[in-house]
Amino acid sequence: MDVSPPRLRLAVLPTPVVAADRLRAELGCAPVWVKRDDLTGFGVSGNKARACEHLLGDAVARGCDLLVTGGGGDSNFVAAAALAARVAGLDCELVVTGPAGAAPSRNVELALAAGARIRPLGHARRDLIDDAVEELAAQRRAEGRHPVALPRGGSTPLGAVGFARAARELADQVTAGELPAPALLVIAVGSGGSAAGLLAGLAATGLRCPVLGVSVSRPASEARATVLDLGHGCAVLRGTPAPDPAALEIVDARGPGFGIAAPGDRAAAGLALRTEGLLLDDTYGAKAFAVLLGRLRAGVAGPVLYWHTGGVVSALAHLQPAPEGVHT
Ligand SMILES: Cc1ncc(COP(=O)(O)O)c(C=O)c1O
Repeated sequence: MDVSPPRLRLAVLPTPVVAADRLRAELGCAPVWVKRDDLTGFGVSGNKARACEHLLGDAVARGCDLLVTGGGGDSNFVAAAALAARVAGLDCELVVTGPAGAAPSRNVELALAAGARIRPLGHARRDLIDDAVEELAAQRRAEGRHPVALPRGGSTPLGAVGFARAARELADQVTAGELPAPALLVIAVGSGGSAAGLLAGLAATGLRCPVLGVSVSRPASEARATVLDLGHGCAVLRGTPAPDPAALEIVDARGPGFGIAAPGDRAAAGLALRTEGLLLDDTYGAKAFAVLLGRLRAGVAGPVLYWHTGGVVSALAHLQPAPEGVHT
């Protein structure tokens, strides 16, 4: 049984898969492919467009009139959620980390432009966002609103369904001959919903492909438990086989800290940009791509699929000029 929960169509799917042949030539490595979820086509929401389709679809089906959620001060998800809420006809309130009065990030500016109301948390503790979201939703409920409260990243079993569908999408692209069956899939892991959905979705297709999750915000053991837990919940929701824990490897790529790219991450993002025209953000993409490059340079067997999750707003906001291009 593959139960499909309500869905609000937002993304332009399937996203393309492209061969990274210039990168391959540069490194002399195994074949590399890129799944272009930076091109999901709903605002600049990247991977989060997929989660929002089911989260907002469900909220609309339940008659909600307000989305309450939150994220870090430069969260792609808050911008995606704000846009999705308005398209779905819901108001939106967002709890974001950072001091009141701080200059908003481009992602928060985008959310504001979409009409969201921002509530600064007043500090940088991302682990306290979900409680603040629940509190705000309870307050609005007491005032007579019908809110849906979502944890940061939209990472719930229901949100993960969007990525379970993405696994089917990938399997269909393999079947259609658009790319070879990957021997390894590399994806950034934050709140875990995307990798969880992928694992659940892969278990439901015939595509056996190990997933390397690059954890940017939690120790590997914690990220692994979160991904497997969400993946299990997602499979239960859809009535599909449980994800295979043996198919998941997680590496800890927090480096200097959440949202801070190490010099090697920056170099990896620069290589992605200059060989393949891929824009990678410091928080997710640069770190995941650095891990991918490490595996390719170590001689991993291919084909390897890098899942580009987006982060384009943040990537542009923090773009670094290549050193040779700076004229003094
Ligand atoms: C650009 C980007 N990539 C990757 C991720 C990680 O996805 P997840 O939180 O589902 O693990 C996020 C999360 O916000 C993101 O914004």
